[in-house]
Amino acid sequence: MTDRVIIFDTTLRDGEQSPGATMFAQEKINLAGMLDDMGVDVIEAGFAAASPGDLACIQEVSRNVRNATICSLARGIKGDIEASAQALEFAQKPRIHTFMSTSDLHIIHQFRMSHEQVLETIDSTVRYARSFCDDVEWSAMDATRSDMSFLMKAVGTAVLAGARTVNIPDTVGYTMPHEYHGMISQLVQAFPQTIFSVHCHNDLGMATANSIAGVMGGARQIECTINGIGERAGNAALEEVVMALKTRQAILGCDTAIDTRQIYNLSRAASGMTGFPIQKNKAIVGWNAFAHESGIHQDGMLKNRDTYEIMSPMSVGITHSQMIMGKHSGRAALANWAAERGIVLDKDALNEAFIVFKTIADSKKHVSDGDIFSAIQPSSETVQHLELLSVQTTQDEFGQNSADVGVAIAGNQVTLSAQGDGPVNAVFNAIGTVIPGLAPQLQDHDVHGVSYQGHTQSESRITILYQDKPYTGHAYDVDTMMASASAYISAMNKILAQPAYRSIVEGF
Ligand code: KIV
Ligand code: ZN
Repeated sequence: MTDRVIIFDTTLRDGEQSPGATMFAQEKINLAGMLDDMGVDVIEAGFAAASPGDLACIQEVSRNVRNATICSLARGIKGDIEASAQALEFAQKPRIHTFMSTSDLHIIHQFRMSHEQVLETIDSTVRYARSFCDDVEWSAMDATRSDMSFLMKAVGTAVLAGARTVNIPDTVGYTMPHEYHGMISQLVQAFPQTIFSVHCHNDLGMATANSIAGVMGGARQIECTINGIGERAGNAALEEVVMALKTRQAILGCDTAIDTRQIYNLSRAASGMTGFPIQKNKAIVGWNAFAHESGIHQDGMLKNRDTYEIMSPMSVGITHSQMIMGKHSGRAALANWAAERGIVLDKDALNEAFIVFKTIADSKKHVSDGDIFSAIQPSSETVQHLELLSVQTTQDEFGQNSADVGVAIAGNQVTLSAQGDGPVNAVFNAIGTVIPGLAPQLQDHDVHGVSYQGHTQSESRITILYQDKPYTGHAYDVDTMMASASAYISAMNKILAQPAYRSIVEGF
């Protein structure tokens, strides 16, 4: 039997509390729609009393979201609860989430209250919240640094006052998995009818581990954010806790309602909206999460992907694993790279290409497709490729841009010329004329600077459409225009690698 864990997303509330992560109201509404589509159970849409803008935004999210419960945060004060109730007026499934600190550190030093006053406040505010809404969650802020016997009293008070869900936050990311597990287990045992929730911050990098430990102790709701954004070092990342439950379901015995194939898209969307980049090696959604560079790993992956992947990239919405060609790659990966492009290398050709490839890889930080093509000496069975020699652009007195692009095709040097809206466009148009009538369409072009140990290069990624199929190219160069032209050439090489073009290319 698998238990269902409720996923409570707080990207729009705790996540937005990350310094610098403010989102526009429309972005929050869009993100809430995506969270709902992905199967999130509860969306904490904001803190209604924080500002009229926050209140209006929760109202708009409430109007738009059809499936998930919409929640608004409220301090343990009447005005906050009233603001939350107003914000949730249009929600199909509203929840008021109110909280009060339970640690002596907070009670004595921050709020200057007695323990009795805290218990009275919990009782009156939960009851007041219940007068507006059946679904009330109560949180014991700084629970993990609270005295356990006082925490028990506080939880008992909240449950008696009508809280359906009780959250035990590790507000400052202090607890260790075994401690948190022990704490949650005791509470679950004492209050078996209550749904306990975990809310873990990442100050010691333990947020995901602690959340899972809490679930192992009997918690059945996890509070988390997309990409783990949140106060200070952030909250538990939704993608991590959900994939941990899915991948280790056999031992954890729990699952969620999340359509995990939407995770990657959502992660990119949230990153775009908040302006928070995703670290390259971020678990589940980082660029490198499904990329393999070492020869031993690539060899294993080519034989059986389970050797080095514990979940499939497709399960989180990434279309495929990546074999990063670099100095750690082995022969098997090079042969596979070539085969994917229709180039079959026999043993001798592979050995020869491998030596050239290793020399290039040793001398460069990034190995481009063009570099690898140049390492593979095509035999008569394989397709010739296009090589970039030079790029020259000019602008006449009327602002008209022209480009002359020198290329080698099948060993012959030719200059391709064209005009365009701007210099880059003129260069692409020129390269596109290499085979009369081929005329690929530019779908996407991205160029940006990458710096490493004081050296800056331009990285360009391109997608061109030919006969409705996308072909991508990727290149680095110290010169932005050369990087873009090389990326275009590398995409063109993928088109020209098809058997249909062999005779045309050989005719040059
Ligand atoms: O971290 C925390 O304690 C919180 C509460 C308001 C739930 O975010
Ligand atoms: Zn928090």
